[in-house]
Amino acid sequence: MDLSEVRQDYKQQLFDIADADSDPFAQLQTWLQDAEKSELPLHNAMSLATVDQNGMPQARVVLLKGVRGGGLDFYTNTDSAKAVDLQFEPRASLLFFWPELERQIRIIGECKPLCREDVERYHRTRPRNSQISAWASAQSKEVPNREALEQAWERMNQEFQGKDVPAPPHWGGYRLIAKRFEFWQGRESRLHDRIVYNPSENDTWNKSRLSP
Ligand SMILES: Cc1cc2nc3c(=O)[nH]c(=O)nc-3n(C[C@H](O)[C@H](O)[C@H](O)COP(=O)(O)O)c2cc1C
Repeated sequence: MDLSEVRQDYKQQLFDIADADSDPFAQLQTWLQDAEKSELPLHNAMSLATVDQNGMPQARVVLLKGVRGGGLDFYTNTDSAKAVDLQFEPRASLLFFWPELERQIRIIGECKPLCREDVERYHRTRPRNSQISAWASAQSKEVPNREALEQAWERMNQEFQGKDVPAPPHWGGYRLIAKRFEFWQGRESRLHDRIVYNPSENDTWNKSRLSP
């Protein structure tokens, strides 16, 4: 495969600044709904980039589980590498990429832990097997082999036999409080539309267009 030959012209639609909602959260919801209507697999998957204690960026995918209170919510293990990063440096970046719609959204902001009530409420909605995995997996820690992981899962499954599985103490969530958004719509000849929102006075947002 010759990667230098892999390219595509983007022709689907345009995104004009006049059509961009004055509220970036409303715009985010519109694009999320478009992704859902298009039946994109895991349209709520987003890349989360943190910075570790050595200043090294670290990106991985997490699932968006809510847009509330000026931020975007996701859930994870609070002893994981990403959680350690966020404790040291709460500033982080989120990115959605929907190739089928030729769209990308970049968001930066600061992550704050979600309250226990929110975490437990969300945990109760998860499939039982996933709840057990949250107990069995010391996320980001080395594990000797697959078998050890499966045995840990089986032990927890036995322990919670016939009972509800509570949220583990090491399981929680974060809300990235958004400080800047960029909506990218692919256009012909690489003249893409890039509409950026920066915070302005009185809790409003200032829209501007960036060169592609
Ligand atoms: C589609 C997809 C969805 C994922 N969703 C989550 C999630 O919501 N929470 C999570 O902790 N990890 C999720 N993961 C796993 C993470 O990408 C990552 O492997 C894990 O959180 C450990 O990251 P860390 O060691 O940097 O903390 C997901 C991975 C993929 C590919």
